[in-house]
Amino acid sequence: MTKPMWALLAGSAFFISVIQAQAPVPPATLNQLMRGTLYPESNVVFAAQDVNPADVPRAKDPNMATDLLTSSFGKWEAVENSALAIAEVATLLTVPGRKCANGVDVPVQNADWIRFAGQMRDAGMAAYAAAQAKNQDKIIDTTDLLAKACQSCHSRYRDRRGGERCK
Ligand code: HEC
Repeated sequence: MTKPMWALLAGSAFFISVIQAQAPVPPATLNQLMRGTLYPESNVVFAAQDVNPADVPRAKDPNMATDLLTSSFGKWEAVENSALAIAEVATLLTVPGRKCANGVDVPVQNADWIRFAGQMRDAGMAAYAAAQAKNQDKIIDTTDLLAKACQSCHSRYRDRRGGERCK
């Protein structure tokens, strides 16, 4: 084989390994993703049903606050950002290669899974608009949508006996 031929082969092998490195296995199981992202984010949005975020006082040290509503990016801005985060996580729910806690692949190939994730994205975007408008009545409409989006998927894929989750 001529020298340029070798160089070409070595080059394409390198290229292929770079492509593979771009699709790493998602770090979290689905359960960890839910607990680490959607659970805290939706609590911030749901809190705005009962408490006007504008009235939530800043924490003593807002930069260190673990309650986002009292943080440096608090009040209605915290609701905006959490609603957007929910919409963003909808995409993470459709990434292939993630496992559920029981070792079953997240069923991203199922049409209803993709639809449930899409409903959650839409509910997140509706909550974002309501937070931008600083409108508690609108927030209450959108938290209905959001709760339904979580529940539809949970009753189909989560709230089933033992090994049946995610199937
Ligand atoms: C597309 C489907 C889907 C959507 C949408 C969804 N979830 Fe989940 N969720 C699941 C599944 C499936 C599990 C179980 C995961 C596992 O066992 O690995 C789960 C687990 C959880 C858990 C962990 C429960 C436990 O027992 O530890 C929480 C908390 C959670 N979801 C919150 C939410 C919230 C809040 C929303 C809406 C903002 C939401 N989820 C939207 C499918 C979904």
